[in-house]
Amino acid sequence: MIAPPAAPSPPPEALPPAAVERTTRLIRQHRGRADALIEVLHQVQELYGYLPAGALAQVARELKLPLSRVHGVASFYHLFRLEAPTAHRCAVCLGTACFVKGGGELAERIERRLGLRMDDAAGNGTWALEHVSCLGACGQAPVLVVDGQLEPRLPMDDPAALDARLAALGLTAAADPDPSGAS
Ligand code: FES
Repeated sequence: MIAPPAAPSPPPEALPPAAVERTTRLIRQHRGRADALIEVLHQVQELYGYLPAGALAQVARELKLPLSRVHGVASFYHLFRLEAPTAHRCAVCLGTACFVKGGGELAERIERRLGLRMDDAAGNGTWALEHVSCLGACGQAPVLVVDGQLEPRLPMDDPAALDARLAALGLTAAADPDPSGAS
C-alpha cells in the first residue's frame, strides 16, 4: 500500500516588512565574515526578542546556508531563544543556599500553580519559569525574581503565607482549578 504524501509543513510566520528589511540590512553587513552566522543570529534576536522561524529562513537564504545548519546553531546555544518571550518571567534560585532553604520545593509549587515546566521557554503562554544558580542574595534565601524584581525570604515553613505571597506576585494561572496552589 502506498503511504499518502506527508502534509506540507506550515510556512514560517510572516514578519513585518520593516523587520524583514532591517534583517536584510544587518545580514548584508556581515556577509562573507567567518562568524557571520552567530553575529547575525545575535542581532536578529535583538531585533525580535527571539529568533522567529521566518527570520531563520531569511538568514539561511541570504547567507546561502542550509536551513538545517542555521536552525542547528540557533538551537545549540542556550543564549538563543526560538520561542517568543512570555509577558511575565519568574526565576527561582536553586543555588546551594536557596536549595537548602526549600528552593526545589518552591520551584515545584510554582510549576503546579502556573501549569508549566521549569526552563520551558514557552511557559504557559503568559508566564515562563527558569532556574538560576545564585543571585548573590544567599543571606535572604530562598529567593525568586519576578519580572526583574528580587523577592527575598519566601516563607517555606508557612504554606498559607507562601501561597498568599505567590498570589500577590501574580503567580497564579488564569485557568488554575485550585487558586490556592495547594494541589
Ligand atoms: S544561592 Fe540563591 S541567592 Fe545565592
